[in-house]
Amino acid sequence: MTTYRETYERWQRDPEAYWMEQSKAIDWETPPSKALFEHGDGLFEWYSDGMVNGCYNAVDRHVENGRGNQLAIIHDSPITGKIEKITYNELKDRVAYLAGALLARGVGKGDTVIIYMPMIPQAIEAMLACARIGAIHSVVFGGFAAAELAVRIDDCKPRAIIAASCGLEPNRIVEYKPLLDGAIQMAKHLPDFCVILQREEHKCDMIEGRDLDWYEAQRGCLPAAIYPVPGNFPAYILYTSGTTGAPKGVVRATGGHLVALNWTMKNIYNVDPGEVFWAASDVGWVVGHSYICYAPLIHGNTTVVFEGKPIGTPDAGTFWRIIEEHDVKSFFTAPTAIRAVKREDPKGEFIKKYDLSGLRALYLAGERADPDTIEWAQDKLGKPVYDHWWQTETGYTIAGNPAGLEALPVKIGSPTVPMPGYDVHILDEAGHPQKPGELGAIAIKLPLPPGTLPTLWNATQRYIKSYLTTFPGYYETGDAGMIDEDGYLYIMARTDDVINVAGHRLSTGAMEEVLAGHPDVAECAVIGAGDQLKGQAPIGFVCLSNGVNRPHEEIAAECVKRIRDQIGPVAAFKTALVVDRLPKTRSGKILRATMVKIADSAEFKLPATIDDPEVLNEIKAALQKIGYATE
Ligand code: COA
Ligand code: AMP
Repeated sequence: MTTYRETYERWQRDPEAYWMEQSKAIDWETPPSKALFEHGDGLFEWYSDGMVNGCYNAVDRHVENGRGNQLAIIHDSPITGKIEKITYNELKDRVAYLAGALLARGVGKGDTVIIYMPMIPQAIEAMLACARIGAIHSVVFGGFAAAELAVRIDDCKPRAIIAASCGLEPNRIVEYKPLLDGAIQMAKHLPDFCVILQREEHKCDMIEGRDLDWYEAQRGCLPAAIYPVPGNFPAYILYTSGTTGAPKGVVRATGGHLVALNWTMKNIYNVDPGEVFWAASDVGWVVGHSYICYAPLIHGNTTVVFEGKPIGTPDAGTFWRIIEEHDVKSFFTAPTAIRAVKREDPKGEFIKKYDLSGLRALYLAGERADPDTIEWAQDKLGKPVYDHWWQTETGYTIAGNPAGLEALPVKIGSPTVPMPGYDVHILDEAGHPQKPGELGAIAIKLPLPPGTLPTLWNATQRYIKSYLTTFPGYYETGDAGMIDEDGYLYIMARTDDVINVAGHRLSTGAMEEVLAGHPDVAECAVIGAGDQLKGQAPIGFVCLSNGVNRPHEEIAAECVKRIRDQIGPVAAFKTALVVDRLPKTRSGKILRATMVKIADSAEFKLPATIDDPEVLNEIKAALQKIGYATE
């Protein structure tokens, strides 16, 4: 059996040969002549001169290879109580007709399409329909507000928007249509048309001449053929939070993403074609793109599309029920979801009710996996629990436990080791390598492997500035951590203003921009304080303009509402504190990291450059009133 070490060294010795070999698992119309294409300035692309189609590899080839009657998708919605099963044969038809409807209305190669849909199979079908005709999709998470959708419309200028009438949260119906209409009204760019799936749970109004019903739109259309695209052609754009309010449009190129995702299914998630794989995330996030939609389908697995929550739909046994009922072999979710289950069912009584003998392992990612959660899951499930670390930008695991290749010993607190393709380094501020065990910025030697971002959408200079400039020759991950003597990586913190709330990546900078827009707010800061369930929770501090005399609670409530209205409920922004001053350095920089330490009752060194240390006591007092900074 090949070991991890041998595989990693094989890649290191000859990356070009390694990635050419992996590319053979994908069906190309024209195979690439070589793997890596270098463009200077740290810019690289993979398989640029191959011709390939993502939808063909995810759907049609399995039909041609005898998997037509195998389930491609199982949609399990404990919210509606319905389960729908779709074979590869059916998926091919559904996708081809939807693609035909887009083609018939002028959407083609290189056009962008926004998809704004909840966790239903049609979201996957819409993504694949775009891939089929070489259109570039950009899925927007349903928990974002209209303004966030508008920003994305203006950035990627979609020719069409595909949406559903509603999403279903346990406590409410989320009407998508008013959000969509609001966003289109706010945006400067106008899509040519919208395709709307009317869900039974809520039917929305349609705008004559712009909105087409999902089924009506397909009537009379021919199924679309496959349109191969070059390997470096964008498959999709996925917006993610950065330091500022303007989200970054991460570009995923087609060829590399097919090769890399296919590689991960056996080597990391340890599943063979035909088996059921489940990632309980959302299509709006990168986990949803890679592991609800593309990777399991490319690899010939059955993917579970889950519309529900870990708890309350109807109980903390939902995950285990689905694993038993659909014979899930590999299960992937965020640590927050397991924390929620653990809180509700600490003794694991629900786990005992189900037969989980088919499950091989639990995979966690999206945020730091705390030791308590890992140990609880190991103990209660009696299965390996593998943490793995990655980002929207990379699209798949940077560091993980390659269980299908060789399951390495788990060290709790570490997502294990770098995957082939990733040369991970720990650097100090000046870019010097740190010794094992020393903390530093985590950087990856260029080039990044296939499947990772080649650039940001229409913003190559921003890509270079954000990721390639701090450490020349390296990609800056934005995470800090260390590598131990055995080569195990530890992820400790972000080096920027990104926070992680329930596995959702959010920008405190974006929240500050919204708070600063409040007419009574003179200045503000948002921090991510430790939260037992969600990992981090945003807390806003606002200083009022001179002469503002309104009740502080009123202003705080308006701030909370502003963020919900302008960013969305997913920000989970529940607390704004009115304070007199913010702690700053003498040069005026707000000491956010120190504020986080105070909120978390962690030890900290008084920053040498602090202007007035007394402000820290004021912040502490404000935090204590809401239950933080108590120890
Ligand atoms: N559409 C519309 N609204 C959404 C939404 C969606 N797709 N997803 C979440 N929201 C809303 C929720 O309804 C909630 O609104 P509320 O303030 O009115 O209650 C808000 O956004 C925050 O949602 P969430 O973070 O899901 O918190 P919660 O308190 O409802 O549930 C957990 C807590 C732990 C159960 C939940 O966070 C969870 O399942 N986490 C796992 C996250 C995950 O899988 N992340 C994937 C990243 S890999
Ligand atoms: P996203 O782009 O939403 O996937 O968020 C990526 C960020 O989430 C990373 O840069 C990390 O900060 C954090 N993250 C993801 N996975 C892990 C993990 N396994 N351990 C620690 N942090 C993680």
